Amino acid sequence: MSVTKPLPHDSARLHVTGAARYIDDIPTPPNTLHLAFGLADIARGVIASTDLAAVRAAPGVVAVLTADDLDRPADCAPAAHDEPLLATGEVHYHGQPIFLVAATSHRAARAAARLGRVTIKPRPAILTIDDALAAGSHFEGGPLTWARGDIEAALAEAADVIEGEIEIGGQEHFYLEGQAALALPGEAGEMHVHSSTQHPTEAQHKVAEALGVHMSAVRVETRRMGGGFGGKESQGNWLAVACAVMAQKTGRPCKMRYDRDDDMVITGKRHDFRIRYRAGVNAEGRLTGVDFIQYVRAGWSADLTAPVADRAMLHADNAYFVPAMRIESHRLRTNTASATAFRGFGGPQGMLGIERVIDHVAHHLGLDPLAVRQKNFYTRTRVQETHYGQPVRGFVLPDIVRVLAESSDYETRRAEIAAWNAGSEVLKRGIALTPVKFGISFTLTHLNQAGALVHVYQDGSVHLNHGGTEMGQGLNQKVAQVAASAFGIGMDRVQITATDTHKVPNTSATAASSGSDLNGMAVQAACDEIKGRMVRYLSEEHRIKAGNLVFKGGKVHVGNMRLSFAEAARTCYEGRVSLSAAGFYKTPDISWDRTTGTGHPFYYFAHGAAVTEAVIDTLTGEYRLLRADILHDVGESLNPAIDIGQIEGGYVQGAGWLTTEELVWDDKGRLRTHAPSTYKIPTASDLPAVFNVALWGEPNTVPTIFRSKAVGEPPLMLGISALMALSDAVAACGKDYPALDAPATPERVLMAARRVQQ
Ligand code: MTE
Ligand code: MOS
Repeated sequence: MSVTKPLPHDSARLHVTGAARYIDDIPTPPNTLHLAFGLADIARGVIASTDLAAVRAAPGVVAVLTADDLDRPADCAPAAHDEPLLATGEVHYHGQPIFLVAATSHRAARAAARLGRVTIKPRPAILTIDDALAAGSHFEGGPLTWARGDIEAALAEAADVIEGEIEIGGQEHFYLEGQAALALPGEAGEMHVHSSTQHPTEAQHKVAEALGVHMSAVRVETRRMGGGFGGKESQGNWLAVACAVMAQKTGRPCKMRYDRDDDMVITGKRHDFRIRYRAGVNAEGRLTGVDFIQYVRAGWSADLTAPVADRAMLHADNAYFVPAMRIESHRLRTNTASATAFRGFGGPQGMLGIERVIDHVAHHLGLDPLAVRQKNFYTRTRVQETHYGQPVRGFVLPDIVRVLAESSDYETRRAEIAAWNAGSEVLKRGIALTPVKFGISFTLTHLNQAGALVHVYQDGSVHLNHGGTEMGQGLNQKVAQVAASAFGIGMDRVQITATDTHKVPNTSATAASSGSDLNGMAVQAACDEIKGRMVRYLSEEHRIKAGNLVFKGGKVHVGNMRLSFAEAARTCYEGRVSLSAAGFYKTPDISWDRTTGTGHPFYYFAHGAAVTEAVIDTLTGEYRLLRADILHDVGESLNPAIDIGQIEGGYVQGAGWLTTEELVWDDKGRLRTHAPSTYKIPTASDLPAVFNVALWGEPNTVPTIFRSKAVGEPPLMLGISALMALSDAVAACGKDYPALDAPATPERVLMAARRVQQ
């Protein structure tokens, strides 16, 4: 059987040889136009006048559009209809598209776009969380509050109340392939769009709306993305819509890709948060209640902020049973790029809040943070409810943490580090073990569905299509393994094909880590349907009980007879059996009411834990991650090689978010870190020198595809252990709690070390 095998990514060879085809590699027809946006150079204001004569006269320019030139409003927003393709009178952030240029080359379009003279009458820009609070600039009319238990009573009864605050910076997705789209106009108003998107159906929907045609006239195709990480859930709409609108206007194919700097300036990032906490504890370090205020900087449009901020609230408990909890969530509208989905979707920020609380409590009480964590874990034996009322079942985390603490020698190393620090003036080491419990399912219940289309050809080869998109995470490989296993054939018989809205309609974004859970099941359903028809026909033909037909090892066993799968397929074809089927799946047992913050939003939880050891230089603030040990729960792995890759990548991306990746906006709302020269993502040399990753391997307790678990996002939050290890190292410099903000850049580590030394 192909599932559970550590097979390489289906495109691995293509990726490393440069043969994998991305949007920019698709050969374009000779009359293709190239597009570029003219961008706002001010964070907020009203457009007073627009002079685009120089743009129109520039070499190679074929067409220039402003909002006024559009036949109907073109909108790019995923939900709220608040993102006009081109600014309509008002400018909401520095870098907002104002006009669209089409030229005969990419360079000509970019050069021409710079020649626009747009006069914008400035208005006071709301840039920071403080600005937004002062101006009362909230989405959804004000803060959303969920509460469970009596928080004030819990704090009043506690032996100790610890208060604090953490600033958590945003994060640039830094996908290697930037945003890109190519629109090919067809006959009679048809539009075929190649889009680097995690959400082809939404691109189709937005394009159809902008063109004034039915969705059925628009075909969106996505073969693969060179990384998405949530940054292509909604942000790709802009390029798809721009290309389609210009293609409709000119009748010519249109292609658009952002250069890296534009990409970083225009597109949304991870939401930055400020989390304020008051936590009640008893003398042993058990939490009696926690009161959180989460301030969320959302940027100029609603985008996916509501579900992101909800997920932050839903993960405010992480792995801990907190008897009383209150969370107040402020979704703040600011004149910055619209923050959007990013791996973990708010979960990481929410989780970091409680991990910070635990770290602070442990420091305050002089206890090992791991001991405080373990004391507060949900229990596996007695099922407890989360603050939103979902029972925590199948909670393997205490076992994972026990085994990991042992395999990583946590206790011995902690003692060794303390002794080493006592004798080391300049360098200080720190260690931390942090857990992850992450809820799997879209919180918007209706998104938890998927479709697939499978054809078996008469030579026994299989064409596989489903609604999920490939962004490097290995979804297609996993799903192909499911199909190969269903038919008992080799992987070489299964053809992976591009995601295509003309093959599988009404798909959800490939997001919330649910790609393989949903599409794996839909593909299995389609394969089972075809198999069922083959079994019925062959058993009747050969007068054999259906139960005596087995698909295995590339053969169909029909009683004592062995047909190759190809022979079986040909026989069925000649018997006029349909060998093509659509499959469908919807996640069972989920329900959710976001206004009251109660329900059963997650089908199950995925778990993991990481131990990180770090060393800091107290004179410069520089640091290194010395070692990381990870034990992660992927249920029964569909593909251990891919899963371990996801875990390694997730950890490193999470550690990058909390250490070196710093976004800086100046007081005019301009992003100053818009290139790799100023924005530091982790590189291979930043990996911990010792990096041990293992899979927990216990099958999922609920019936998912082969009892596997989602793996895409949860490992990102293992990176929290890197921040906590740095915090532990800084704590070794003095007596006070370091209260490290994120990202803990060398500057912040240096300043924190100075602070605690005083
Ligand atoms: N891995 C790679 N290599 N590239 C990506 O863009 N995106 C992550 C994760 N892992 C991503 C990735 C995010 S944000 C999600 S939601 C999941 O993959 C989506 O894929 P899945 O649902 O198939 O796991
Ligand atoms: Mo992932 S942030 O759900 O695309």
